[in-house]
Amino acid sequence: MATMNIKVIYHSSTGNTEKLARAIADTLSIQAELLGKDPISFSEPVDLLFIGDGLYFGKANKRTLSLIDRLDPKMIKNAAIFATYGGQAKIGTDIKELVQNKGIRVVDEPFTCKGQSWVFINRNHPNEIDLSKVRKYAKNAVAKVGR
Ligand SMILES: Cc1cc2nc3c(=O)[nH]c(=O)nc-3n(C[C@H](O)[C@H](O)[C@H](O)COP(=O)(O)O)c2cc1C
Repeated sequence: MATMNIKVIYHSSTGNTEKLARAIADTLSIQAELLGKDPISFSEPVDLLFIGDGLYFGKANKRTLSLIDRLDPKMIKNAAIFATYGGQAKIGTDIKELVQNKGIRVVDEPFTCKGQSWVFINRNHPNEIDLSKVRKYAKNAVAKVGR
């Protein structure tokens, strides 16, 4: 694809997922967008939408759930999921399934890593190794959209 329209949209309560979002966006020379209280509307088709969140009491944040609920498979051609968690990596596949249930292709397995929190500790995560992995993941996801 000549020029791909790529977006990185995320929620982050304590900043861990934001670190991944920024690493992905920096790698792709775009800006990550933090989900606010107003729904996001897409004015043109998106070739690849990165969606990221943390895990809070077993679920993604309601802003992320509502974003996914409103996604239109005609506008969103492909998605890639990234997430941080305290102990339960399943948040990645939970989000992936929600997106797939909207009829949107998810290009890869989700990227997940630990995120520090008072309860789960995970000191200093996401760390430099996590960030370098997520940069690779981002490039690989873009390459997969071309196929
Ligand atoms: C209020 C709260 C609830 C959480 N609940 C869970 C949970 O149920 N399971 C889990 O594995 N991690 C849980 N965590 C840990 C977060 O998922 C983890 O710290 C994540 O990196 C937070 O992402 P964020 O910094 O982008 O908000 C919780 C953290 C907070 C602050």
